[in-house]
Amino acid sequence: MSFFISFEGIEGSGKSTQVLRLQSSLEQQGHKVTVTREPGGCPIANAVRSILLDPANHAMVPRAELLLYAAARAQHVDEVIRPALDDGHVVLCDRFIDATMAYQGAGRGLDEALLTAINDQATGGLIPDLTLLLDLPLEIGLSRAKSRNNLQSLEAESRFELESLTFHNRVRTAYLDQAQRQDRFRVIDAAGDIGAVAQRVHTTVQRFLSGRIDHDI
Ligand code: TMP
Repeated sequence: MSFFISFEGIEGSGKSTQVLRLQSSLEQQGHKVTVTREPGGCPIANAVRSILLDPANHAMVPRAELLLYAAARAQHVDEVIRPALDDGHVVLCDRFIDATMAYQGAGRGLDEALLTAINDQATGGLIPDLTLLLDLPLEIGLSRAKSRNNLQSLEAESRFELESLTFHNRVRTAYLDQAQRQDRFRVIDAAGDIGAVAQRVHTTVQRFLSGRIDHDI
């Protein structure tokens, strides 16, 4: 059975770790799992990712940023996500359309209707079956993201990690608003240790899957 789960959250919310934990628990249950992320997931989208995150590109205007995310997404959907779903995989994607609404919408101030239309063009209408919003206070997320960068000795923080606290606060609030408005969202408390958060993710996904199976029978 194929289904599509996206992970969302502010910087340092632990998405990439939790994606891998969920991958191994789903594989143990016999699911075929594809793990991917945005922006990126395939060579063309990865090339766009480098442009988007490069701190040297501080002159990038919000509309250019939006269209680059959309270009990366269009390629990624057609080259990776749809084929994996067609092949019966569970697709776990670290960020998807909701990141555009939160970052380019609430963060950059672009119009919601424009973002919805562009997202729709990029995805051809593909929407996740389930979206897990890993939520935690800003200070914890941003300090985690900073120490991760130091540990991995990345040459610099990305353009987004350099944004102000108010920017990230708008992003977090926008994610929580979207979660209120859309049934496919589940908010996961991501402030605890990795194992505890993984357990919450696991329980939420199992509940969702059993609902799906009952529904499909
Ligand atoms: P990552 O840190 O989760 O890999 O994501 C890269 C950055 O890209 C992150 O700061 C959020 C940002 N982003 C957007 O602004 N819009 C989008 O549509 C996506 C997918 C990511």
